Amino acid sequence: MQTTSPVLCGRPQIWAVGGGKGGTGKSLVAASLGIHLAQMGRRVILVDGDLGAPNLHTVLGMDSPPLALSDFVKRRFESIETVVLETGVPRLSLISGARNSLDIESLKHFQKTRLLRVLLGLPADVVLLDLGAGTSLNVLDLFSLADRGLMVILPEPTSIENCYRFLKAAFLRRLDHLGRTLGYQSIIDLVMEHRDQSDQGRPSEILDEIARIDSCAAAAVASHVETYLPHLVINQVRSHEDERLGEAMEWISERFVRIPLRFAGAIPYDTALVQCLKSRRAYLSEYPRSRTAEMLRAVAESFAAPGRPGAGHVPDLRVAARRASWLDSGRCAPVADPYRTLDLRPGAMHDEVLSAYLRLRRTLRSDSPALASLDCEAERRATVVEIEEAYRSLSRNVSPRTVRPARPVRSSSHLL
Ligand SMILES: Nc1ncnc2c1ncn2[C@@H]1O[C@H](COP(=O)(O)OP(=O)(O)OP(=O)(O)O)[C@@H](O)[C@H]1O
Ligand SMILES: [Mg+2]
Repeated sequence: MQTTSPVLCGRPQIWAVGGGKGGTGKSLVAASLGIHLAQMGRRVILVDGDLGAPNLHTVLGMDSPPLALSDFVKRRFESIETVVLETGVPRLSLISGARNSLDIESLKHFQKTRLLRVLLGLPADVVLLDLGAGTSLNVLDLFSLADRGLMVILPEPTSIENCYRFLKAAFLRRLDHLGRTLGYQSIIDLVMEHRDQSDQGRPSEILDEIARIDSCAAAAVASHVETYLPHLVINQVRSHEDERLGEAMEWISERFVRIPLRFAGAIPYDTALVQCLKSRRAYLSEYPRSRTAEMLRAVAESFAAPGRPGAGHVPDLRVAARRASWLDSGRCAPVADPYRTLDLRPGAMHDEVLSAYLRLRRTLRSDSPALASLDCEAERRATVVEIEEAYRSLSRNVSPRTVRPARPVRSSSHLL
């Protein structure tokens, strides 16, 4: 069965897979995504953008390639198509990374823009960039310039912390690029100059400051920023708690980091994946019917869904900013729509209300993994109060027969 292609008006979509920490499974997810999309009928070119330690060819079960991206970047060839290799999977090709990696770790600005221009000219529906670990400018620029970005993380505090850091850094790079392309660079420079270098602030605050200088600039930048919705994959999950992390991070990122994030799915820890790597076979082709393969395909479908990613649910950063300023000033936020507070559609059924309430209460526990390293205790407490109020207000309006009382929290010290 073929999926509907997103609107591909003449040029390929550039999708990037990144995520901060090393060894989380970025290459594996990128390769699986490529295989699935090719099997669904799209022409895909996988590009190993990990110029420090390229190994996407190994994940695809291929020998070390004779030609690589570095040959093109170093102008050993004029046409990038010279380094496009067949993978053996119909419609899926590979541009391998650097053959002599270390000398090309840091791309100059003109090399990055030339590379992106050339990738946009490739004969493909999707160009999938597998990026290296970390938050180097190479990685951040390629991630934030892509049409879509997918972060792959592990359900561990260090990986979660890196993920939020990566998200903020990528946002700032995107802002910088937008400033340049839309002609507002001087305003953005002015705003960023006055910000703390170690923590440059939340997107909503930055947009507010831009608006104080030039409302047209803020509106133009916000309309681009708000429609960009990075996706998140939790890889190597081993428990229900790990599986739930993605949903919790989606909510926390929107509320507390104020950068929208879309959870695309969780992939089980599966030793067969490692076995396939060792024997240099592509997992999706070897075990197409396993649960892991099913989850990999679900991630691919979610990430590749037609249209703008997240269309229909793009959080408004300015709403988040208003809420933040109420919290900062110590005032109570005006009573919000309780359905919205609980992340529900208006008129949701009682069971839905209860399960949303319990989910958010779990997400907001002081020891919640999704809050790893975020310095947001005052906001967390205030939000718990909002959630409790919203739940109470919705419970008042329903018949006692239909609503089961929420189980008491085992240790209330985690909540407030
Ligand atoms: N779901 C999984 N279950 C078991 N092992 C996994 C899973 N996902 C990845 N791995 C293993 O983790 C290792 C790292 O995977 P991969 O190379 O894809 O990570 P990466 O994020 O691309 O690393 P790098 O940052 O070095 O590029 C591999 O050995 C792979 O087999
Ligand atoms: Mg990799």
